[in-house]
Amino acid sequence: MNQAEKERLARVGRTFNAKKYIAEEIEAIRKQVGNRKVLLAMSGGVDSSVCAVLLQKAIGKQLVCVFVDHGCMRLNEAKAVKKVFKGKFGINLIQIDAEARFLKKAKGITDPELKRKCIGGAFIKVFADVARDLKFGDIDFLGQGTIYPDIIESGVGGNKAVKAHHNVGGLPKDIIFKGLVEPVKYLYKDEVRKVGKLLGIPEEMVMRQPFPGPGLAVRCIGELTKEKLDILRQADFIFRDEMKKAKLDRKAQQFFAINSNVKAVGVKNGARTYGYVIAIRAISTQQFVKAGVVELPFKFVTKVAEKIATKVKGVNRVVWDVTPKPPATIEWE
Ligand code: XMP
Repeated sequence: MNQAEKERLARVGRTFNAKKYIAEEIEAIRKQVGNRKVLLAMSGGVDSSVCAVLLQKAIGKQLVCVFVDHGCMRLNEAKAVKKVFKGKFGINLIQIDAEARFLKKAKGITDPELKRKCIGGAFIKVFADVARDLKFGDIDFLGQGTIYPDIIESGVGGNKAVKAHHNVGGLPKDIIFKGLVEPVKYLYKDEVRKVGKLLGIPEEMVMRQPFPGPGLAVRCIGELTKEKLDILRQADFIFRDEMKKAKLDRKAQQFFAINSNVKAVGVKNGARTYGYVIAIRAISTQQFVKAGVVELPFKFVTKVAEKIATKVKGVNRVVWDVTPKPPATIEWE
């Protein structure tokens, strides 16, 4: 048993009990934070949503949540986050539009790991800036929705690194935060969902498919540009919408589109076009460490392909990714 496994066992035990976990975690947060303040990075995903509610229960007004739109969010995501967390939960939520800043930083970078590191680094700096600018007093801690598979796959605790996960492993030295608060870091995804349900977070949010910290950046191959990301956003929206309408969303734990950065020839309105090849991927998994491919009906796949290639300007071809994990990973980068 390596160090990470020992820590998980000590914190979670052999059989997971969400009620016990919530009570213990609230105490642990209070002990760690005391009367100091926490800035929580919110993505609108399950993990950070559960963290937000846990933190609010533990420290109430000492929490401020910040949602950074790094320009790699899905269609209408920023709006939905605001509606739910500000509107429904009344959480103190600040939204920052940092698209231009992120795209400038990522300009010219094509290597997947460098892209991840660049986005992760820029992300943490935006947070530090926000913390400095906020009229919120001194903020000592940064909250993050890191979960157990992120720790395993980042090579922390004696495990072999697969990908550089968003900010796992600590903060850069020049950053003003004194430490991290990671209330779900020893939990697997299904356990995070159980905690979320028990905390009263709406079903549709708790069951939402995971979305990586670097967002569409890991699904947009090659250099990140607004044009490529906008194309991907539209294609991804169509695919997810069709999955929902066909009730196939229940069969897959994650489904999304990828901009492959490859261009191919097509024909639209009788004229030659040269546009991106979009890939679609739907996987079934329990713990996201291994994943199978969901057998979507072939008719459905061709219908989606035609719809994306017809409706999205700049796309004229769609391929279906049928590779399990391993040997592939779920995300393309
Ligand atoms: P992979 O691609 O490694 O993905 O098979 C496993 C699960 O993790 C998600 N993922 C991430 N989540 N930050 C996150 O919060 C990241 O950098 C990140 N990279 C991948 C991925 O969507 C899948 O659910």
